[in-house]
Formats: sequence, C-alpha cells, structure tokens
Amino acid sequence: MKRSLITILLIFALTIAVQGIFNIGFAGEDEEDADYPTELIVFTQPVKAVVFDHKYHIEEAGMDCDSCHDDTFEQAAGTAEENGDFTMKSLYEGKYCGACHDGDSAFASNTKCAVCHIGVIGYNKMHNIEGGEGGGHH
Ligand code: HEC
Ligand code: HEC
Ligand code: HEC
Repeated sequence: MKRSLITILLIFALTIAVQGIFNIGFAGEDEEDADYPTELIVFTQPVKAVVFDHKYHIEEAGMDCDSCHDDTFEQAAGTAEENGDFTMKSLYEGKYCGACHDGDSAFASNTKCAVCHIGVIGYNKMHNIEGGEGGGHH
C-alpha cells in the first residue's frame, strides 16, 4: 500500500517536472510576442520630433512584427531618417507610416498632426531639457 502511494506521488512529481521542461522548450519558439522596443521611437529628421509607439501598435492595434518589418521599416532606429524621402509627401503616397495611416486602416496622415508630432517642446520635455517656452528655474 505505502509503496504504491509513493510510486503514484513519484509519477505525479515527474509529470510536473516534465511539463515544466516541455513548456520552457516551447516558450522560446513562440514568436507571437517577440521582444519589441518598449521605449518610444523618436524621429528627429527632417523635423523634431515624431513619436512611434511599438506597445500601442502591437498591444492595442494588435499588429504582428511583419506588418511593418522589414518591408516598411528596418528593425533599426534611425534607418528611415537617413532616407531623403522620409516626408509627408511619401506618407500621403502610402509609404512608411502612410502604408496604414491613409484614413482606411488607420487615421489619415493629413489629419491629427499633433498625435504623431510632439514638436520641439514635446521632445525637450521627454528628454528633461530645461529652457524653451517661459524657461526660468524653480
Ligand atoms: C506599425 C509598425 C511596426 C510594427 C508592427 C513593429 N515595428 Fe518595430 N519598428 C517600427 C519602426 C517605425 C521602427 C524604427 C525604424 C526606423 O527608425 O527606421 C522600428 C524599429 C524596431 C527595432 C529597432 C529598435 C532600435 O532601437 O534600433 C526593433 C528591434 C523592432 N522594431 C522590433 C519589432 C518587433 C519584435 C515587432 C513585433 C513584436 C515590431 N518591431 C513591430 C515599426 C513597427
Ligand atoms: C501596419 C500599419 C501601421 C503602420 C505602418 C503605422 N501605424 Fe500607427 N497605427 C496603426 C493603427 C491600426 C492604429 C490604431 C487605429 C487608429 O488610431 O486609427 C495606429 C495608431 C497610431 C497612433 C495613435 C496611437 C498613439 O500611439 O497615440 C499614432 C500616434 C501612430 N499610429 C503613429 C504612427 C507613426 C508615427 C508611424 C510611422 C513611423 C505609424 N504609426 C505606422 C497602424 C499603423
Ligand atoms: C501618422 C503620423 C503622422 C501624422 C498624422 C503627421 N505626420 Fe508629419 N511626419 C511624420 C513622420 C514620420 C515624418 C518624418 C520624420 C520627422 O520629420 O521627424 C513627418 C515629417 C513632417 C514634416 C517634415 C517633412 C516634410 O514633409 O516637409 C512636416 C513639415 C510635417 N510632417 C507636417 C505635418 C502636418 C502639418 C501634419 C498634419 C496635417 C502631419 N505632419 C501629420 C508623421 C506624421
């Protein structure tokens, strides 16, 4: 009696251990929520400044990495900014952010300027830079 109880307990413990290994093994292969940058991407060229939030696009808008990578954007901040055509004209033509921000898949690029554009003041606030509007120290 006692012996069979111990055997059952042993099998139970082994099952849990094996399950643990099994789950860890699969967690690594699950690409769905692959690590994405949690900090805002801030563009400063040609104008200061425009923000892009991975968290919002992935968690709220439910997008996959390949909605943007690597056809629309490289996985390297600063790449688009090196292109001479990273402009509103391109967005209106359906390039870069304009691939979705066309008034169809997402709000149009010729509306709500200030949702994407945080401006110089917004940029300074983000980086705790003193001065600018009404400057003075406390
Ligand atoms: C809606 C578009 C969009 C989606 C979806 C998206 N990204 Fe990005 N990602 C960007 C943009 C824009 C940049 C900046 C590219 C640039 O500056 O040229 C970027 C940059 C990156 C970078 C480089 C960051 C750095 O500091 O250099 C990584 C890494 C990255 N993305 C990973 C991911 C992963 C992983 C996913 C999916 C979980 C994902 N992205 C989904 C738009 C997107
Ligand atoms: C693959 C499609 C796609 C691309 C590319 C894309 N977006 Fe979006 N974006 C969306 C969707 C969908 C929403 C949510 C629906 C809406 O707000 O109209 C959204 C919402 C937003 C919002 C409002 C939410 C917030 O964070 O406050 C901003 C700002 C934004 N996008 C900026 C950008 C910028 C800047 C780029 C380019 C660097 C970009 N997006 C590229 C699909 C996209
Ligand atoms: C979906 C996000 C988004 C919206 C909405 C948006 N912009 Fe932009 N804008 C960008 C991006 C991305 C750039 C290029 C990066 C940079 O300059 O920092 C840019 C660049 C610019 C530039 C400099 C390049 C050029 O085309 O001359 C101006 C000016 C500009 N935007 C004005 C506006 C105005 C005005 C509106 C509203 C009518 C607006 N933007 C709406 C994302 C947006």
